Amino acid sequence: MRIQSTTKSPIEFENTALVIGVHENQPLSESAKTVDNASEGRLSQLIESGEIATDECTTTHLLSLNGLNGCSVVVVGLGTKEDRNPGLSYRSAGAAAKLLAAKPRSDVAFFMEPEFVEQGVCGSIVGCIGQDLFRSEKELHPFENIFWYGASEEQIANGRVLGESMNLTRKTVNLPANEIYPESFADECKSVAKEAGLEAEIWDESKLASENCGAFLAVARGSSKPPRLAILRHNGGKAGEAPIALVGKGVTFDSGGLSLKPSAGMLDMKCDMTGAATVLGTMSAIARLNLPINVVGLMGLAENMVSGNSYKLGDVLTARNGKTIEVHNTDAEGRLVLADTLDVAVGMGVARIIDLATLTGACMVALGRDTSGVMTNNQDFCNDLLDACRSVGESAWQLPMFPFYSKHIKSKVADIKNVGDARWGGAITAGKFLEEFVADVPWVHIDIAGPSFQEKPKPWIDAGASGCMVVALVEYLTRQLENDA
Ligand code: BES
Ligand code: MN
Ligand code: ZN
Repeated sequence: MRIQSTTKSPIEFENTALVIGVHENQPLSESAKTVDNASEGRLSQLIESGEIATDECTTTHLLSLNGLNGCSVVVVGLGTKEDRNPGLSYRSAGAAAKLLAAKPRSDVAFFMEPEFVEQGVCGSIVGCIGQDLFRSEKELHPFENIFWYGASEEQIANGRVLGESMNLTRKTVNLPANEIYPESFADECKSVAKEAGLEAEIWDESKLASENCGAFLAVARGSSKPPRLAILRHNGGKAGEAPIALVGKGVTFDSGGLSLKPSAGMLDMKCDMTGAATVLGTMSAIARLNLPINVVGLMGLAENMVSGNSYKLGDVLTARNGKTIEVHNTDAEGRLVLADTLDVAVGMGVARIIDLATLTGACMVALGRDTSGVMTNNQDFCNDLLDACRSVGESAWQLPMFPFYSKHIKSKVADIKNVGDARWGGAITAGKFLEEFVADVPWVHIDIAGPSFQEKPKPWIDAGASGCMVVALVEYLTRQLENDA
């Protein structure tokens, strides 16, 4: 897809789909006025009569307005002016792109609000790509050319990196588990690293064994597909400066193991590597953006399967940091993979850790399908991350980590067990479990089980992988530079 800036007005285009943003109860933008004048007031008549809705992300496709050289017009509602924010720019551009991508088209020109161009460009790239990777007839068709009115080259370049990085994450998640398993995921890491300019290091099962990753390896044991730990490094900062670590749960398929999931709950479990795919997308973005900062991404890749070799209930595992874990449920596997992956990050002397994981159904019960659960051992760090989320329209909410929750994961035979006492507070007891493996490194855990994978499409994005958190993480990491300066 080519994306270019334009200063042409809507009436200077021919045979192009024009996207025009319209606020509720506000005067029309310059571009909208131009369209309105060319069509002899038709646009404003339709808005006035209520035929065109202006609520957030509603779209109306006007196929034949007079005076527009064969151009059609998509009017996107932007809601009330007070609601304007980067998230809205992302969603509204995405909604228009998704509508237009329903059939192949060569040229689409966006005339949106000027403030949040990067988010808008990002939305237009995400909106026109769907999850129908294996369908012979695609539902969505990316455009050949996107024109963006009033954008700078830099805004377009940045928006493109954000959108393409989200799409990298989305595609990796949407690929099924017969395509993406630990080895093939690690191969994908290597090729992304090569393209984006990252350092890649892959640990195989014998390296994991020599590093005493007993919790990680126990999960992987039931699968004929061997595990991998993929490590990507972006060394954009000062030499020797401790990096920020991004750690991702990469369970490429979660059958539940011997604590087998029912079919309905297992169907979408190819999505259980979204944490790792989010780390991959984010690492690719920060390398392409050349952020002058050191970041290391660690992706714990394993498949949770059933076999004569599977780990069992009652097993006691010794994690890399020496803690012993009694297995009460083999479906609580993500925290076991992360336990050792987090400890590897700690051992690298990283400055801070952010982990991302489709960790618990309980988090979805608590917060719903659109909000990530955030837990921390360091409130200032967590506040900064939540601020970054808020600023880009990413929905995230903190859950408490009161010390008394720790007693829920006490074991009678080992240091800890891998589930809480009852199902209550399951997102938090999982967070408490992870906390055992970060020592005193400032750490934020993001449970993305809800937002990472959607059953139904939204107006601005197809169903399946959402690409959540990629932009928020880039925003957080970008802000670290400003704080340092
Ligand atoms: N991968 C799941 C969590 C999940 C569920 C993610 C639904 C996305 C959608 C995780 O490994 C899991 O199975 N967690 C269990 C933990 C329980 C056994 C303590 C859960 O949430 O039921
Ligand atoms: Mn599980
Ligand atoms: Zn899982």
